[in-house]
Amino acid sequence: MEQPSTSAVKERGAYYTPKLISDFIVNWGLERTHDSINILEQSCGDGAFLRALTSSSRLMEGKNVKILAIEMDKKEAKKSRVIGNQLRSNSNITCNTVASEYFSYMMGVKSRANKKFNLVLGNPPYIKQSKFVKGRSLAKSRMEELGLKINQQSNAWVYFVIDAVSRMSPDSHIGLVIPADILQLAYAKAVQNYLTDHLDDILIIGFDELVFPNIQQDVVLLLGKKSKSTMNKRLGSISVKNLSCLNNDLWENFLHSKKPVNVEEVDWNLQFLSDQKLSKIDKILERKNVLSLGNISDNRIGIVTGANSFFCVDKTKLSELKIKGGRNKGVYVKKMIGSRMNVPGIEYTQKDHHKNHSANKRTNLLVFDTKYPRKKLSDELENYLSMGEEKEYHTRNQLARRTPWFSSEHVISTRIGLYKRSAEFCKLFLKSEEIYHTDTIYRIWVEDDKITPGTLVFSFVNSLTYLSCEMHGRNYGGGVLELTPAEIRSLKLPIHDCTEDEFAHLDEMFRNNTSIEQILDYTDDLTLNFLNKSERKLIRESWRYLKNRRMNRKKRRGKSNGTK
Ligand SMILES: C[S@@+](CC[C@H](N)C(=O)[O-])C[C@H]1O[C@@H](n2cnc3c(N)ncnc32)[C@H](O)[C@@H]1O
Repeated sequence: MEQPSTSAVKERGAYYTPKLISDFIVNWGLERTHDSINILEQSCGDGAFLRALTSSSRLMEGKNVKILAIEMDKKEAKKSRVIGNQLRSNSNITCNTVASEYFSYMMGVKSRANKKFNLVLGNPPYIKQSKFVKGRSLAKSRMEELGLKINQQSNAWVYFVIDAVSRMSPDSHIGLVIPADILQLAYAKAVQNYLTDHLDDILIIGFDELVFPNIQQDVVLLLGKKSKSTMNKRLGSISVKNLSCLNNDLWENFLHSKKPVNVEEVDWNLQFLSDQKLSKIDKILERKNVLSLGNISDNRIGIVTGANSFFCVDKTKLSELKIKGGRNKGVYVKKMIGSRMNVPGIEYTQKDHHKNHSANKRTNLLVFDTKYPRKKLSDELENYLSMGEEKEYHTRNQLARRTPWFSSEHVISTRIGLYKRSAEFCKLFLKSEEIYHTDTIYRIWVEDDKITPGTLVFSFVNSLTYLSCEMHGRNYGGGVLELTPAEIRSLKLPIHDCTEDEFAHLDEMFRNNTSIEQILDYTDDLTLNFLNKSERKLIRESWRYLKNRRMNRKKRRGKSNGTK
């Protein structure tokens, strides 16, 4: 199996399944399919799953086997056909390998439109909505036929997975390789709901180590079963170390250990932690000492300038424009923290700011006074605006709807900031309201009179809150942790009313690059003293496990630009 070129990866979402995965899924599926077997592979590439079928002894047991494998790329379909012909040399097997776009093939003839299968296998294409051209409109009509409204941002795999499940006969199985987006992204909600509505048992298998080298997207395996009568549902997840840990016991253990629940109780907030650990963690999170960040504070994305390179400038640019910090004729220059600026402690001080400013970082936000007549602006400022127009900033989405285009919106500041994305851990930081920032940092404000901004910033640093960041946040790609406003509101934290000395000590620890484990040793003693030793150990270990698992994804950035 030769991995496709970078352009094939991007254009047709081609990333071929490693043998250990296709063998595992094929064996798992065949072992559970007892009558005559009717297999669908929606996008077979060069035939990873067909190859796995050829080496399965179960297929040769004399049962009637029908295989339908489709592939849009003619060259790859030809390679699959060779394997299909090999399968067909067994008299009990028919294998139809079709070179076609999937949706047009399945929807092209009435007799195929309602075709059902008792085993669906594969690895659907991962193609961004903007690149999903061939088959998109048919895929959308198929979703409409199924009565579903799909988010406009949805990746191609969403349509393939939903269609695949819709084609499962009663008492059937599905085994797919899909992006871990299913667990994280808003657009995956439709698939989650469809899977829980139509399948009875769903197991998601993740990997601690790399299984698809050189690709950014994290993948999981979806194993699902549809029964004849759908009453109760089982949904579970497990993370195995690597491909060599894939075995049939995973499914059997899942069936035995997971209790079925009503469909309304199915919770897709899956974590790759054992059920036993999760239920202990849930109990800890319910303690009265643990608050939800959303109950004591609120947040809002930072200022959206529409063109950071134009509105956020360094001190050299200020002198070129002959303006200084504060009010100038026609423009205010506000202090700001730029996107790549270092916030070393838990307080961003005026001294830190001065240091960044002296290092010629973009520490200045230009807020034009739109009441000031443009024709009265200095030549330097007028030329700057004209230069912006030459670069067509005024036609950008965000700016075209503003009058004039160089006006600013929502220029307000808060005492607390939080970077939207972080590496090993995230932290809140205290700052003066004089200091603004753009949308790489959230604005956070405290809504509880009894809690000071300093207390909130300090209290955020503890193993339990960090665990909750890993549980609620998402892996942005490359091992980066990203939090959305809603996720920030769901974070859990204990409140410790810290002294000035404690705050200064913690600030110093961060500034001295003390390891995060040592920092947590210090803060957990103060903030998590309502937990016993073994509970604290469980929380710390669970955070460490999820954090390392996420950060391992960093290594996935390889030579290829592959998207899955
Ligand atoms: C992720 S690869 C998986 C290939 C193979 N199933 C495997 O597991 O190795 C996805 C495949 O889908 C094919 N594909 C993309 N869009 C398609 C479409 N609309 N119809 C049929 N095949 C498509 C690509 O050419 C690519 O070979």
